[in-house]
Amino acid sequence: MRIIRTITAMRRVISKLRLRRNSIGFVPTMGFFHPGHVSLMKASVNRNDVTIVSLFVNPTQFGPKEDLARYPRNLKHDIQVAEAAGVDFIFAPSVAEMYPEKQLAYVDVGQIADILCGATRQGHFRGVATVVSKLLNIIQPDVMYLGQKDAQQVEVIKRMIKDLNFHVKITVCPTARERDGLAMSSRNSFLSPTERAIAPRLYQALCFAREMVADGQRDASQIIFRIKKLISDGTNVSIVYVSCVGLDRFLPVRRIEGKVLVAVAVKIGNTRLIDNIVVKAK
Ligand code: PAJ
Repeated sequence: MRIIRTITAMRRVISKLRLRRNSIGFVPTMGFFHPGHVSLMKASVNRNDVTIVSLFVNPTQFGPKEDLARYPRNLKHDIQVAEAAGVDFIFAPSVAEMYPEKQLAYVDVGQIADILCGATRQGHFRGVATVVSKLLNIIQPDVMYLGQKDAQQVEVIKRMIKDLNFHVKITVCPTARERDGLAMSSRNSFLSPTERAIAPRLYQALCFAREMVADGQRDASQIIFRIKKLISDGTNVSIVYVSCVGLDRFLPVRRIEGKVLVAVAVKIGNTRLIDNIVVKAK
């Protein structure tokens, strides 16, 4: 496995791979790898000649009061994990390499970026769309692997790819979870033992919502009410949002018909956690 630090060196590698007609799988990440990241890497390794993982904590997707400075990093560990997963190249540029001067051109994805996580993280999805478009222009992969854990991010990126004619396929991998159901996340490392004990409530509440739908509940507001109660009762967890949205444009639904994404975001102490599941009304 090779670690590449500059855009020029990355482009040189890509040109050679293209000459050899190698298929390129790409996994964009911000590092601090956990089994969720590894599942994306393995999906790519299994289906492509070459797998490239980008490791870049992207400043433009963090708000001024967010956790950019304390975002967890461990390059040594990440290199070992990626190598064991069969990754061929890690593209790990510096901030100066990716943003040598003040970025003036941004990718704005409109309404879908302003709801759910976008409502409280202004500019977040604009930063994500911008860095992913830069990475796609540098790496020009055949397939990009993304996680369902960040369902809104997937939707934003899919929309950007469609509207801006990027030539890349998207594969979405299921959410990897801890044994107790907690969705794996680099941010879980911030949780104190007491907070960690509360965190599985997100997935438990989502599973309860799925049972409510199976039992015939169709009223989204009832489902949202129960989820909020299950998560926050007897704790100091603050709910950022609980939403039932349609899968096409992520707009809130009143009734559960067909497939609906149930998405939650909370703050436990200073740590923001998200999770989601798709429920289906028969
Ligand atoms: P990061 O949070 O490092 O996540 C990298 C990829 O791993 C994303 O596609 C994310 O959805 C996926 N992922 C995270 N946790 C997962 C889990 N438990 N199961 C399955 N997949 C999981 O998402 C980002 O980085 C950034 O926004 C990025 C796209 C790299 C742009 O900077």
